[in-house]
Amino acid sequence: MTDTNVTNTISINKIYKSFGNLQVLNGLSLSVANKEAHVILGQSGCGKSVLLKCLLGIFNIDSGEIVVSGINVNDRTKAREYMQKFSILFQGNALFDSMTVIENVVFGIKQSLKYNHLSNKKIHEIAAEKILSVGLAERVFNIYPAEMSGGMQKRAALARAIAVEPEILLFDEPTSGLDPITGGLICNLLKDTVKKLGITSLTITHDLRVAEFLADKVSVINKGKVVWSGKTKDMQKCGNKFVEEFFRASNVISSRNINNTD
Ligand SMILES: Nc1ncnc2c1ncn2[C@@H]1O[C@H](COP(=O)(O)OP(=O)(O)O)[C@@H](O)[C@H]1O
Ligand SMILES: [Mg+2]
Repeated sequence: MTDTNVTNTISINKIYKSFGNLQVLNGLSLSVANKEAHVILGQSGCGKSVLLKCLLGIFNIDSGEIVVSGINVNDRTKAREYMQKFSILFQGNALFDSMTVIENVVFGIKQSLKYNHLSNKKIHEIAAEKILSVGLAERVFNIYPAEMSGGMQKRAALARAIAVEPEILLFDEPTSGLDPITGGLICNLLKDTVKKLGITSLTITHDLRVAEFLADKVSVINKGKVVWSGKTKDMQKCGNKFVEEFFRASNVISSRNINNTD
């Protein structure tokens, strides 16, 4: 059945995905409202990246349905329009190493149908404005990704992601590989950016602190399904054993980190 609820930007309805005998997604359902900051939280290996690839149509789902702003993921006649709704901030940033920061952002803009009509000069202006908007200085325009820190690379990748003015921003493990202070700064930047642009965001992470910081609503995945959705503040006493244990274990780990003086 098609979900015609226009207030949901993303409607995922009972999807199944397996690889051979491994059932990764097992009747997973999820709705993301328009302009909501939604976070999917789950253990490593639980299927978060597989879910993201199903959402993007990279993997075919075995059954179920995915609809994004009224377009079904399997509708090949609208495949380009479907993909252009999304921008992704990849876990490893996925910047082109042989292109400078501004060339990376210009390249991103040129992929978008929306900007087909713009002159090169205008595209460079948009790219420059986006790079500055994520807190990078003009002096980084012409340097290469390898010359930047992890946090700066994340900012450059964000500039590229927002430059095409997507309807939905996807953040894949946005703080992984960053030290806690830089991770916190990046989380702040992501939250501010999403708010400023007034768009829908979907973050996948195993890190409760990221979810607590970014989420209007969190969905917890276990055994291929969303087992609970709600506000992170309600996780601790939500009545679902797995969710309560995930919350408790995450807090034990972070207090260990704080107390670790080695
Ligand atoms: N292309 C693939 N072929 C076979 N198994 C896969 C493939 N992609 C992912 N898997 C398996 O699916 C499970 C979930 O993986 P993944 O979605 O990457 O987890 P995570 O939640 O850490 O992102 C893992 O057991 C993984 O080995
Ligand atoms: Mg993953």
